[in-house]
Order: sequence, then C-alpha cells, then structure tokens
Amino acid sequence: MASIAVYSVKGGVGKTTLAVNLAWCAASISRRKTLLWDLDAANGSGFLLGVDPKKKRSADSVFADGSDPAKLIQTTDYAGLDLLPADESIRALDRQLDRLGKKKRLAKLVEGLAKDYDRIIFDCPPVLNELSAQVIRAADLIIVPLPPSPLSARAFEVVVEEVRGSGKGHPPILPVLSMIDLRRTLHREAREANPTWPVIPLASAVEQCAVERKPVGAFAPRSPAARAITQLWTAIERKLAQK
Ligand SMILES: Nc1ncnc2c1ncn2[C@@H]1O[C@H](COP(=O)(O)OP(=O)(O)O)[C@@H](O)[C@H]1O
Ligand SMILES: [Mg+2]
Repeated sequence: MASIAVYSVKGGVGKTTLAVNLAWCAASISRRKTLLWDLDAANGSGFLLGVDPKKKRSADSVFADGSDPAKLIQTTDYAGLDLLPADESIRALDRQLDRLGKKKRLAKLVEGLAKDYDRIIFDCPPVLNELSAQVIRAADLIIVPLPPSPLSARAFEVVVEEVRGSGKGHPPILPVLSMIDLRRTLHREAREANPTWPVIPLASAVEQCAVERKPVGAFAPRSPAARAITQLWTAIERKLAQK
C-alpha cells in the first residue's frame, strides 16, 4: 500500500481536481484498490465524483480513538474506487488533533486501511497546521500542483521547507506544473526552467470535471488533458516503485 498526498499551502491550484483524477487513474488504469480521502471541509472530491454526502455523518469522528474509518467510506460509480468524504466537521479537525496529542493518528489510520487498499490519495486543504503535519507523516509521496505564478512558487517553497523540516525519512515531493498554457510567456518560462516536472495543461476538459461531476478519463479519455493525467499517474507509480 502507498499513500499519496496532493497538497499545497495555496488554494485554487488544482489539488482537488488532480486528486480525483489521479485516484481514478489508480483504480481504472492501474486496477489498484483505491481510497480517495477528502480532508478539506469543502468536500470537493465527493462533488467531483458525483457522490452526494450522507446526512448525519461526521468525518472528524474517524480521528477519535477507536473509531473505524470503514463506517464513513462510500463506494463510487467506479470499480475499485472508494471515497472517504469530508464534511463541515473537518473544520475543527486541526484542534481535535492537537487535543488528542497523537502525532501519528492519521498515519495509524492509514496503516489500518492497508489491508483494504493499495493506494490512498489525500485531497488536502491549503493549510499549514497539525493536520498537514500529520499528512506529511502519513504520506509516501507528496504531489504539489503549482500553476506558473510567483505566488504558487512561494507556496511550493513553504511546502518544501515544511516537509524537509518534518525530519529524516520525510516523503519525496513531486512538483507538478498545473494549468499550463504554453501560449503564455510566463508559462513557457516556467516549463523551460523545470523541464523534468510533469505538466498538466490548462484545459476545458479538466474544468468540465466539475460540470460532468466525473474524472476526465471517464468522459474525455482521448483528450490531451486525460493523457497528461495518465502520464503523471505513470510517473507517480514509477516513483513509488523506486522506494
Ligand atoms: N488543468 C486545469 N485546467 C483548467 N482548469 C483547471 C485545471 N485544474 C484545475 N482547474 C480549475 O481550477 C479551479 C480550482 O481547482 P481545484 O482543484 O478546486 O483547486 P484546489 O483544490 O487547489 O483549491 C477549479 O475551478 C478547477 O476546475
Ligand atoms: Mg481543494
């Protein structure tokens, strides 16, 4: 089992979109039993997968001692892909984790899920707190989507500092140039400056995910965007295999 966090301290960089699409690739292309774990109160992952939240469930309860995450997990329309949805309760999660005082709570939950899943993908909120620290401790790989702008480059530096600061044996970081439009000078320059970083193009097919409420591969499998996402997923599997 390997866990992958899609994380940045910046919002709107494409984390949720990428997490959903990568989870779809893991399940549909690599045939891995996959769990997409939404840690953002906005519950964007569930929305993009067309999964409507069930009433009277609180996603924060997973973190309380002795509680079983399986109770919250929902199946999706895609074989091999399950979702652990977020809800409003997640807002207080950071304080809850602080109170619990267990630095590896999330890592322990992930360990417990290893018997049921081959891949766990976290859709992270744009925060720098105890929750993100726990994600860094639990993840085998951290994907940082970064549109070509000085602000997201800054956000990337913050993530790198935070991950490196988490101690020896920290997970590797894979930056991904997201929302790239090669007609724009700044975007071309970002591409040229980082020729080895995977690229996800700015594409209406990706935007459409939120309208279709489906991953790109499920409704536009031959689009350049779907191909780029598949390529990224292949690169991720390769990186995990090197571990
Ligand atoms: N490659 C892309 N091309 C076009 N639009 C994109 C792309 N990636 C993300 N978006 C759009 O950008 C917005 C923010 O994406 P989202 O995944 O919610 O970011 P985050 O989770 O980092 O806040 C959404 O409207 C999404 O549809
Ligand atoms: Mg998001």
